[in-house]
Amino acid sequence: MSVTILVGGQWGDEGKGKVVDLLADRVDVVVRSQGGNNAGHTVVSEGREFRFHLIPSGILCPDTVCVIGHGVVVDPKAFLAELAHIQAQGVDTRNLVISDRAHMVMPYHPVFDQLGEQQRGDDRLGTTRRGVGPTYEDKVRRIGFRIGDLQKPKFLEKKLRFVLRLKNETLTRLYGAEPFDEQAILDEYIGYGELLDPYIRDIYPLVQGAMVEGRRILLEGAQGVMLDLDLGTYPYVTSSAPTAGGALTGSGIPPSRVTNTVGVFKAYTTRVGYGPFPTELTGELGEYIREVGAEFGTTTGRARRVGWFDAAVARYAVNTNGIESIVLTKLDVLDTLETIKICTGYTSKGERWDHPMANISHLKHAEPEYTELPGWMTPTRQCRSFAELPAPCRDYVEQLAERCGASIDAISVGPDREQTIIRRPLI
Ligand code: IMP
Repeated sequence: MSVTILVGGQWGDEGKGKVVDLLADRVDVVVRSQGGNNAGHTVVSEGREFRFHLIPSGILCPDTVCVIGHGVVVDPKAFLAELAHIQAQGVDTRNLVISDRAHMVMPYHPVFDQLGEQQRGDDRLGTTRRGVGPTYEDKVRRIGFRIGDLQKPKFLEKKLRFVLRLKNETLTRLYGAEPFDEQAILDEYIGYGELLDPYIRDIYPLVQGAMVEGRRILLEGAQGVMLDLDLGTYPYVTSSAPTAGGALTGSGIPPSRVTNTVGVFKAYTTRVGYGPFPTELTGELGEYIREVGAEFGTTTGRARRVGWFDAAVARYAVNTNGIESIVLTKLDVLDTLETIKICTGYTSKGERWDHPMANISHLKHAEPEYTELPGWMTPTRQCRSFAELPAPCRDYVEQLAERCGASIDAISVGPDREQTIIRRPLI
C-alpha cells in the first residue's frame, strides 16, 4: 500500500497534469482532492493533446480508478462537457468516480464571482470567474449543494427554494442584477443528476477498501501552495487548500497513511491573476520566456506572469508540506538564456527574509536577493538522463535542490511523456 501526495509548489500551472499522467500507470487509484474547473492541465501523450479541468489526468490510463474527491467543487455542466470531449477523443471513462460529498457549482456562483470582482475594482483578485470561490463560500456557510443532492430531487427542490431566495435577494437588492428562476435551475440540475448518476459514489468504502487491499494511491492537488488560503499570498489566493493537508481532507485519507509527498516546481516561476510576485520579469525577458514556455492559461487563455525561480517560496512549500521529492518541469524553456537567476530571499524594510512574509504589501515591495548562474545555451529536449544534460544545467538543478531542501528526482524537458528524466522512481 502506498499513498503519494502530489502538490504544486508555486502558484499553480507547474505541470502537475503531466506528472499525474506519468505516474498513473504506477498507481491503482488517483484522487483529485480540491479546486474546481478553475484548474487546467494539458497533457501531451504520443503527440496528442488532452486538456483537463476537473477530471484527473490519470484517466488516460484505462486501468486506474480516477476519483473526484469531496474537497473538489464540481460544475456539473462543465464536467459533462469535459467528459464528452475526452470521450470523443477515445478516452475510456468507465473508471471515473465522483464523491457524493463534493459540492456543486450552481448557476449563480459564476455570477457572484464576476460581481465580486467588479465590486473590488482595482483590488480585484483576477479569479478565473468559474464560480469556484462563491461555491466554497456557500460550503462554509452551510448552504451549499452536494453532488449527492442530485439523487434526492425532493430534497434538492426544498433546499433550492430556501437558498435561491437568499441568492436572489442579494442579486436584486445589492447588485441590481437579474434573479434566477427556481424551476429552470431545478429542471437543469435534475437533468444533470440523470447523466451523472453512473459516476456518483460514496467514496469512503472505495478509498478505505483501496488502503486495506494494499493498493497504491495518488492524491492529485490542483493549483499550488502559494495559492493556498492560509499559506499563500492572501487575499490573492484560491478558495481551497492546495497543500498536502488539503489533499488529505479532500480525499478522506489519514496523515499516518502517507508514504511520500512530491512537489512539482517549474524551473522558473509563473503566476496568473493579481497579487505579489517578487521575482516577476516585466520586460522583454519575461515576454521571451512566456513565448518559449507557451505560458498562457489552459482554463482562461490569460497570459501568465513570468519570473525567476524563487527558492524562498520553494523552500517554504517544501517545509510546510513535507515535500521529500521534487519534479522539476519545463527546464528546456531556459535552454537559450545566457544567465539565469535564482532568488534566495528578500529584503523588506531593511529586514532580511528567507521566506515569503504574510504582509502582502511588504511582499509586493520586497527586494529579491539573487544568485546568478551561467546558462547552458544548448538544447535539452533530447536528453533522457541527468548525465546527458549540459554541465551548467546540472549545476542549476543541483543548486535548486540544495536551496529547496529536497531532492530533484525527475526533470521534464518537454511536453511529451517521453521528454522526462527520471533520476529516482517517485513511487
Ligand atoms: P479562483 O480560484 O478562480 O477563485 O481564482 C483565485 C486566484 O487563483 C486567481 O489568481 C487565479 O488566477 C488563481 N488560480 C485558480 N486556479 C488556478 C490554476 O489552476 N492555476 C493557476 N492559477 C489559478
